[in-house]
Amino acid sequence: MATIIIATGRAVPSRRVGNSELAQQIDTSDEWIRSHTGIGARHIAGGETACSDLALEAARAALSMAIQGGMIREKTLEELALTVDMIILASTTADYIGTPSTACIVQDKLGARNAGAMDLTAACSGFIYGLEIAAGLLAVAAERRRILVIGSEVLSRITNWNDRGTCILFGDGAGAVLVEKTAGEGPGRRGLLRTILGADGSGAEDLIIRRGGSRNPYRAGETVDEPPHVEMNGRGIYTFAVKRATETIERLLQAEGITINDVDRIVPHQANARIVATAGKRLGIPEEKFFLNIEEYANTSAASIPIALDELNRKGELREGSLIMTIGFGGGLTYGGNLIRW
Ligand code: ACO
Repeated sequence: MATIIIATGRAVPSRRVGNSELAQQIDTSDEWIRSHTGIGARHIAGGETACSDLALEAARAALSMAIQGGMIREKTLEELALTVDMIILASTTADYIGTPSTACIVQDKLGARNAGAMDLTAACSGFIYGLEIAAGLLAVAAERRRILVIGSEVLSRITNWNDRGTCILFGDGAGAVLVEKTAGEGPGRRGLLRTILGADGSGAEDLIIRRGGSRNPYRAGETVDEPPHVEMNGRGIYTFAVKRATETIERLLQAEGITINDVDRIVPHQANARIVATAGKRLGIPEEKFFLNIEEYANTSAASIPIALDELNRKGELREGSLIMTIGFGGGLTYGGNLIRW
């Protein structure tokens, strides 16, 4: 059995906020942001747009690609949505805390009436986790065939816009892939070949939203009137990310018995171009092997890898047989990587 990504989609809000616009509101500069992160702009969702809205748009784009590409029998979006068996939605910025899941909202609006739906919390590694969970769900039940894996974020809603150490980093967006189970074994087989998933909960406080959960619920008369927002130990995350990204690339290559020359493209989580450059330098990997679009979108957490995959796919850079490696790291702390034969 093989788990193949048959289509991709993305949704990015049209409002683009360049570094210079941010520099009018807080004490920062285009030069500082670019030199420390590689970010030039971010896209910010309008006030009425929630996580499920971007996720739905990305999911529809993926289903439309599958129909237009003619690789499936179904001819309409409605027909195809009915064949989806599961929706896995990775996010740090769900529409609601706990319930209902954002995946359920997408399931309803998409008309995926035969699908189960669940949210996944693994911060920026969420898409990597989601793909492996999808492969597992397809493997254990003969009747399951198609799964939507979505990463969707409206990080602008959990950003403290007065904190220049974090607000310059994040953007909004969603990416989705439609995966399908097919027959396929042996050397040269397509699909998800291997995944590494890891976590280090001892770093939980390095990236944390303290408010609103059961650890810190609303207490009448005590809770300070301040919205939930992300707090980050930038240096801690930086060190963790470089170490785990480096290790994960090495482990994936070793486990598969290949070298970096066999890999066509590495699609890293777009957190900071310097993290990617440092990891690449340590391993002697040429910079052009990594696909980076952080300059345009900033860090969109769980959405960053599927947005990047869709961008590459629509540019025609993911050809059948291409070997693609994803690498992610983020809150939790979590990390991981997938090796995919396109
Ligand atoms: N503009 C101007 N100056 C700034 C800014 C800013 N936006 N932010 C910080 N500074 C200043 C600091 O105040 C400090 O000044 P000081 O020396 O006078 O005290 C100086 O710049 C250096 O600050 P550092 O925090 O040490 O800067 P650093 O080089 O570590 O870069 C950064 C900070 C970009 C956040 C970096 O640590 C980083 O990228 N860490 C990883 C963050 C990350 O990837 N997070 C997301 C992962 S998880 C997820 O994706 C959800």
